[in-house]
Amino acid sequence: MATGPRTSTEALECLYDVAGGEFSPLPEELLRVYGGPFALASPVLYANFVQSIDGVVALRSVPSPGSLIGLRSSADRFVVALLRAFADAVLIGAGTLRDAPGHRWVPGAIYPELADAFGELRLRLGGPSEPKLVVLTRSGRLDAGHPALREGALVLTTPAGAERLRPSLDASYTIAVLGEGSGLDVAEAIEFIRSAGYPRVLSEAGPDVTGQLLQQGLLDELFITASPVLVGGDRRDRRAFSGACSIPLSQVGDLVSVRRGGSHLFLRYRRAAAPRGEG
Ligand SMILES: NC(=O)c1ccc[n+]([C@@H]2O[C@H](COP(=O)([O-])OP(=O)(O)OC[C@H]3O[C@@H](n4cnc5c(N)ncnc54)[C@H](OP(=O)(O)O)[C@@H]3O)[C@@H](O)[C@H]2O)c1
Repeated sequence: MATGPRTSTEALECLYDVAGGEFSPLPEELLRVYGGPFALASPVLYANFVQSIDGVVALRSVPSPGSLIGLRSSADRFVVALLRAFADAVLIGAGTLRDAPGHRWVPGAIYPELADAFGELRLRLGGPSEPKLVVLTRSGRLDAGHPALREGALVLTTPAGAERLRPSLDASYTIAVLGEGSGLDVAEAIEFIRSAGYPRVLSEAGPDVTGQLLQQGLLDELFITASPVLVGGDRRDRRAFSGACSIPLSQVGDLVSVRRGGSHLFLRYRRAAAPRGEG
């Protein structure tokens, strides 16, 4: 099925864009492929995920369902890399980490073809060369050998999670204990990440953590890729966002941008009260 652009650098088609971006820091090649300017505010909490056109984000029976749902679209990989390039920190839950052994949540890992351009963008934004990975876990059940952890991730966990993790602790990643019981409030986690010096936070978490961010109305911006696949299947196997069925549109935000890459659609929503980018 021909679903993505024919080459890795084919430009997205801009169908609608009222997001602003007059002061877009994109280098020329990224500007061309994105199909126009792009900017994000700071501080900002934004989330990105891909879903099938029948609303499936993950499947219980399929490990690493990203390629089944996203169809390995080059356009989708580009947008993921672009959003990572703007992030000071990328937030995931332990479920997403466990499901992606070997993955690194940095722009070049998902779109190596334009790694240099993404590096140039990060220079222009004035941050370090890669975003910080932040992992949420209650249980502390993480593979301490995962390369993304070993590159210096920040793990936010409970006292019990820290107990479990400490024996495998080495100097490569940091553990912070938030909360006193078995739970950890995601709003508190976001506050902690910001106060640790990471104002632009991108969530690439799965349905569990993203559902909590949506439920608490914490997201300033939401980027959704609608992938041209119908997953169908057993409703016990299909996963959308936990507890997200009653979230009013006003809380998700207004549609501010629509782009097309092949048969994939890239939607950007922004809360009315959310901070605007420089442009
Ligand atoms: N379609 C997409 O774009 C997309 C994006 C990301 C992931 N996914 C897929 O989603 C699936 C994983 O789903 P998921 O819901 O398990 O992912 P997730 O939300 O990233 O991770 C869930 C885990 O995060 C931890 N957690 C959740 N809430 C927490 C809190 N308040 N405090 C501390 N820790 C907390 C728990 O870890 P512990 O169990 O260790 O306590 C929980 O099991 C995978 O198949 C992945 O490929 C899809």
